[in-house]
Amino acid sequence: MANSPLNVVILAAGQGTRMKSSLPKVLHPLAGKALVQHVIDSAKNLVSDASNKINITVIYGHGGELVPATLADDSINFVIQEQQLGTGHAVQQAMPHVSDDETVLILYGDVPLIKTETLGELIKQSENALGLLSVHLSDPFGYGRIVRDEHGAVQAIVEQKDASAEQLTIAEGNTGILAANGKQLKKWLSQLSNDNAQGEFYLTDIIAMAVSDGVAVNTCHPDTEEEVLGVNSRSQLAHLERCYQQQQAEALMIQGVTVIDPQRLDIRGNVSIGKDVTLDVNVILQGNVTIADNVYIGANSVIIDSSIDENVEVLPMCVIEQAHVGAGTRMGPYSRLRPGADLKGDNHIGNFVEIKNSQIGNGSKVNHLSYIGDTQMGNDVNIGAGTITANYDGANKHKTVIEDKASTGSNSVMVAPVKISKGTTIGAGSVITKDTPEDKLTLTRSKQITLDNWKRPSKKK
Ligand code: UD1
Ligand code: CA
Repeated sequence: MANSPLNVVILAAGQGTRMKSSLPKVLHPLAGKALVQHVIDSAKNLVSDASNKINITVIYGHGGELVPATLADDSINFVIQEQQLGTGHAVQQAMPHVSDDETVLILYGDVPLIKTETLGELIKQSENALGLLSVHLSDPFGYGRIVRDEHGAVQAIVEQKDASAEQLTIAEGNTGILAANGKQLKKWLSQLSNDNAQGEFYLTDIIAMAVSDGVAVNTCHPDTEEEVLGVNSRSQLAHLERCYQQQQAEALMIQGVTVIDPQRLDIRGNVSIGKDVTLDVNVILQGNVTIADNVYIGANSVIIDSSIDENVEVLPMCVIEQAHVGAGTRMGPYSRLRPGADLKGDNHIGNFVEIKNSQIGNGSKVNHLSYIGDTQMGNDVNIGAGTITANYDGANKHKTVIEDKASTGSNSVMVAPVKISKGTTIGAGSVITKDTPEDKLTLTRSKQITLDNWKRPSKKK
């Protein structure tokens, strides 16, 4: 990396008309994160240790007030560009925040997949020079073309609409991303004119100015074209989302995760995944997700801000949010863990079971059709089918305690606050409103009777 301090200018003033959205374009999410935030994060990763300062300025446009409001980042300068008079004019708005000795890196809020390594290389190229990121394109239509002399030295960039027929045959396109010295950049920007086909102040005109000032223009290239693709439409957004997800799936597979179909995995956040983990199709991992070794995540499961310990089997169609799944647990299909669900381990959680804000002790089972909320459950408990903890009296939430080795009958209701003591057995169909004694059968239903003289009603003629 260059020794001079870094100042990153991110252009984000475009209206994004083709998105047909009331949300500013750069705030549209890719993998759950705003496009411009991807760019900011890639830039921030350029400085590895916090002592190395990096200045960031985001240029937003009229109607884009949501951009500073949403990002709400004290370490970023936000500058409005009231009228979009061109990329050069946009960069000019940031110049009051740039000092002469800084290296200025220009990025775009709608080009989200740019890699930190590529930017690092560009900054290296900009030492005592102007660094330009260019790309060889099979179809360069719409891009500014890189004009070189007979020795291959860059002379200028000419925009599509200003190019001659001969220049239009150049396949090397301008990505728009460049790095230059602060003092020189200020000088060149002040000399821009809008005397061109689009009547705009083109940032690209600084290239020819650098050349005439005797400043070398060094180019480098991204590894893949997708790194420098911009988002102008929802279709392009969807394309880059798939590119990004494919990269993440590749990275996981390299690391030893089995991804059944890399096209059908979505990661929207930060994941840490152990060895011999299988992710079946249509899994979504969101926020901060940790998965330990030897775990299977079944099809169509959604895991949000949760941790899964080793040897866990999550069968299809589970939703796990802000929860912990202890080692050796088997859950699903169709189980839902809501915030605060904490399974200690070796648990069986079955279909149509919802657990919220509850500890489930080791080896305890909740196998069918239950709601367990605000419950402290001990070890080796067996919860019968259809057991409900009634935790809400209409105004307040109350706690249920279920101690070790208790067993509840099918279709029973624990009306909180209540304690089901150690070893209690609850008869099926009971409504329990009082604490139960240890190791006894407690039930609340009336005795079964048969009415000998009863007759089934028959239809009137
Ligand atoms: C620009 C480059 C072109 C390059 C292409 C790559 C110029 C003159 N041309 O063309 O050489 O090949 O990008 O995609 O730089 N923006 C502002 N304020 C403005 C104008 C633009 O913030 O006043 C932002 C836009 O939101 C967008 C970016 O700058 O993110 C690029 O602007 P755009 O007008 O799309 O440039 P291109 O015509 O594509
Ligand atoms: Ca454009």
